[in-house]
Amino acid sequence: MDNVQKSAVRLRPEILASPVYRQGKPASAEAFKLSSNENPFPPLPGVAAAVTAELGFNRYPDATAGALRVALGQRLGVRAEEIIVGSGSVALLLQFITAAAGPGDDVVYSWRSFEAYPTLVTVAGARSVPVPNRADGGHDLPALAAAITPATRVVIVCSPNNPTGVTVTRAEFEAFMAEVPADLLVLLDEAYAEFVVDPEAVNGRDLVGRYPNLVILRTFSKAYGLAGLRVGWATGPEAILDAARATAIPLSVTGVAQAAAIASLELEEELFERVSELVSRREELLSGLGERGWNIPVSGSNFIWLATGEYTDAAAQILWDAGLVARPFSGDGVRISIGERESLTPILDAADAILNLLPALHPAKAR
Ligand SMILES: Cc1ncc(COP(=O)(O)O)c(C=O)c1O
Repeated sequence: MDNVQKSAVRLRPEILASPVYRQGKPASAEAFKLSSNENPFPPLPGVAAAVTAELGFNRYPDATAGALRVALGQRLGVRAEEIIVGSGSVALLLQFITAAAGPGDDVVYSWRSFEAYPTLVTVAGARSVPVPNRADGGHDLPALAAAITPATRVVIVCSPNNPTGVTVTRAEFEAFMAEVPADLLVLLDEAYAEFVVDPEAVNGRDLVGRYPNLVILRTFSKAYGLAGLRVGWATGPEAILDAARATAIPLSVTGVAQAAAIASLELEEELFERVSELVSRREELLSGLGERGWNIPVSGSNFIWLATGEYTDAAAQILWDAGLVARPFSGDGVRISIGERESLTPILDAADAILNLLPALHPAKAR
């Protein structure tokens, strides 16, 4: 839990009080690992070939990831200078937060959301201002706007929201941007954008170039299946990106990662067939859970959220015993990634057992 250990040297107290990142429980070989929103499909042969062709790792990589930025810029219709690449979008989040907020500054975000946000803000030396999610697990954007004060330097909007899966609508986002001062950095974290099917949902690609204070973050970790190689990217006004470039740890995006990302863009059609398959598994799961009496928010991501409240640890144990390694957030709920097709039936069976624990939370079952 807290990183409070006896240290011979003086360390920052807020860092000592921060939880150390811990990966979920290791899954046994037979269990389904559904705890990190990874892509269950193995790398495409074309991507694997690009990785093995990139064996000159006695040399440093291209520090600016120039070829990848050109490829992304062409897709988005922006200049390569308006793209930044980082070692995962989590690294980029830290770069942007650090560039804009420090001691005495606030960072506003919806909560519960991506578990890294509080730590990233603390590392920057700034203060987190979490704003409770709506009852359906979505962002309360008017409340986020109302939480902005002169001390606020960054607002993070996560759509689809991790871990609830709920998307922000385009109309909600536009109304929010109209409220936000133009000198306040807004980070739209769209790590799961490729899994969204709702036409009303916000899509950062449609917003490129529209706001002087908006940065859109994406990743190759989820839909593109490159979680282990660590590549994320962001687009926004060049001056903001330059500030984030100044906070980067140099050379952290490896040449192998850059080659895999470029190959993945070239193989997007094949990769997106896999994304469609994952979306159809998600829909199958959501409708099966609905039939069983679960009242789950519509998910636009590659995971679903069971709001199990105080029964969360027991729910995670039921899943674990069924060979399903999910991600529990104690006292709140369990997130289950969409993985192998064979995991769907065990999830539905476990969900039946979990529902029996919590009739009060799910009136449909109580009747
Ligand atoms: C909402 C959100 N943003 C960003 C990330 C970071 O992804 P990566 O650093 O692998 O690009 C994640 C990963 O789980 C996430 O859920």
